[in-house]
Amino acid sequence: MTKAAIIDGKAFAAGVRERVGKAVQELKDKHGITPGLAVVLVGEDPASQVYVRNKGKQTLEAGMESLEFKMPETTTQEDLLAKVHELNADPKVNGILVQLPLPKQIDESAVLAAINPDKDVDGFHVVNVGRLNTGSGDALVPCTPLGCLLMLRDHFGDLSGKNAVVVGRSNIVGKPMFNLLLQDSCTVTVAHSRTKDLPAVVREADIVVAAVGRPEMVKGDWIKPGAVVIDVGINRIEKPEGGTRLVGDVEFASAAENASAITPVPGGVGPMTIACLLRNTVTAACNQHGVDTPEM
Ligand SMILES: NC(=O)c1ccc[n+]([C@@H]2O[C@H](COP(=O)([O-])OP(=O)(O)OC[C@H]3O[C@@H](n4cnc5c(N)ncnc54)[C@H](OP(=O)(O)O)[C@@H]3O)[C@@H](O)[C@H]2O)c1
Repeated sequence: MTKAAIIDGKAFAAGVRERVGKAVQELKDKHGITPGLAVVLVGEDPASQVYVRNKGKQTLEAGMESLEFKMPETTTQEDLLAKVHELNADPKVNGILVQLPLPKQIDESAVLAAINPDKDVDGFHVVNVGRLNTGSGDALVPCTPLGCLLMLRDHFGDLSGKNAVVVGRSNIVGKPMFNLLLQDSCTVTVAHSRTKDLPAVVREADIVVAAVGRPEMVKGDWIKPGAVVIDVGINRIEKPEGGTRLVGDVEFASAAENASAITPVPGGVGPMTIACLLRNTVTAACNQHGVDTPEM
């Protein structure tokens, strides 16, 4: 039986999108600014096509300008870099997102490095990584960990002094999550594949963020009673009766027995990612125009 409160990421993301929409309206009314997000998709990857379509739709719904650039699978690195430079120079474009993964002939890190850091709404550029790491305040922060932080702040109010364990140390989730929790004055441990006695490490946590990419790896008896669990994992597994279903990196049913609150999969962290992309685009537009960022 589920004991934990369910953190409804779908509803929370809808709230973020609504606040973003209001901020966009305020920018239009007060400053004549319409934030613009450019998304570049190279190739025909079906999952990427769905993501890009959803990003474009939600960008328009928030009242922003959405620009989509579809380039063929055979695009050269030179052509893609030329597109990035063009978007860097376009004043209508406040945010640039190059959808990953890229075809194998293209060096992903070279492309990410070419994006103007002030338009890097994915927050992957080393300049933004450095800004986040040093707490300089003007970092554009990777969308998924930002979404996790916003949900945790909403749940706890103040995160100060909490013991947080982040399982996973990727550049996209684990490391920025570490920095964000540290900035909110948590005591943070980052665990990974070489961590000894992971269950014991996780049992110390008031906050568990799982970003491992292994279906249901984190078990319920690893969770300290009353801890809050944020499950970033999205894994598709086979159902015994046939077909597939999505599960997280946490064994939801057993974790919900011990946790005080937990995000489900799907419907937890997932919907927050695009909402935070829209939020980052507004932040980027405000920074570029030198106007205060409205509350979002
Ligand atoms: N929008 C979203 O909701 C969203 C966005 C991004 C990612 N995700 C999901 O989040 C999950 C993680 O993504 P990612 O990009 O961070 O993955 P990743 O780059 O593959 O990193 C996985 C991390 O987990 C660690 N790990 C692997 N096996 C482990 C084990 N047995 N014990 C402890 N740590 C282990 C790895 O440690 P080492 O470094 O030691 O190898 C690595 O740091 C995936 O399921 C992904 O689909 C969701």
